[in-house]
Amino acid sequence: MASTCWPMSSQLREIYGAEFPDIKRYVDILASTGVEWGLIGPHEAERLWDRHILNSTALSELITANSTVADVGSGAGLPGIPLALVRPDLRMTLIEPLLRRSTFLTETVETLGIGDRVTVVRSRAEDHHQSYNFVVARALAPLDRLIGWCNPLRDGGGVILALKGSSAADEVEAARRHLQAAHLDAEVLKVQAHPAADPATVVRLRASA
Ligand SMILES: C[S@@+](CC[C@H](N)C(=O)[O-])C[C@H]1O[C@@H](n2cnc3c(N)ncnc32)[C@H](O)[C@@H]1O
Repeated sequence: MASTCWPMSSQLREIYGAEFPDIKRYVDILASTGVEWGLIGPHEAERLWDRHILNSTALSELITANSTVADVGSGAGLPGIPLALVRPDLRMTLIEPLLRRSTFLTETVETLGIGDRVTVVRSRAEDHHQSYNFVVARALAPLDRLIGWCNPLRDGGGVILALKGSSAADEVEAARRHLQAAHLDAEVLKVQAHPAADPATVVRLRASA
């Protein structure tokens, strides 16, 4: 369990190295415009690093180099924007149906100067017809619905990474029938952006062997 002093600025600099200033700019945007636009709760602003940024970037170790990635239901850009900032090798597409959120995403991508590798698509997942090496999602929907939305976006060997809470294993159990119908195998994994960070729980879905 992370201590109450966690994360300190020095630790964040150690984790994110040269990318720290860009991630800090994104955190500042979330804490200002994100709160003003109602995308981030006012009480969340104090917990952006541990609850949102470290949790999002923990996915990085599961994503292979130079991949195309879709973040489905990106909201204010989580986990897609922090991942794109720590992994400039990725080609990221942020998929978000709501106008206010997709406008926020477009402006934020422009402000951060990452438009060459991050694309914003205003759409529901089920109306978007492209395929990706990785499909990531956080707080999108229960696993059965998430499979229906994300599986068609996966290319042949593609992988779905769903950031979940402590009930991940129960969700996998409840989605058994959907997993079989979609020919997917599920694993529940724990990943961390740093040994002192709370582990993130990820359900990884891949084509059945
Ligand atoms: C609870 S928010 C999570 C936002 C962000 N991923 C995060 O972790 O903070 C769920 C998001 O999914 C979006 N969403 C809902 N239905 C969707 C669909 N069918 N396709 C794509 N996104 C959807 C919503 O507009 C919302 O922004």
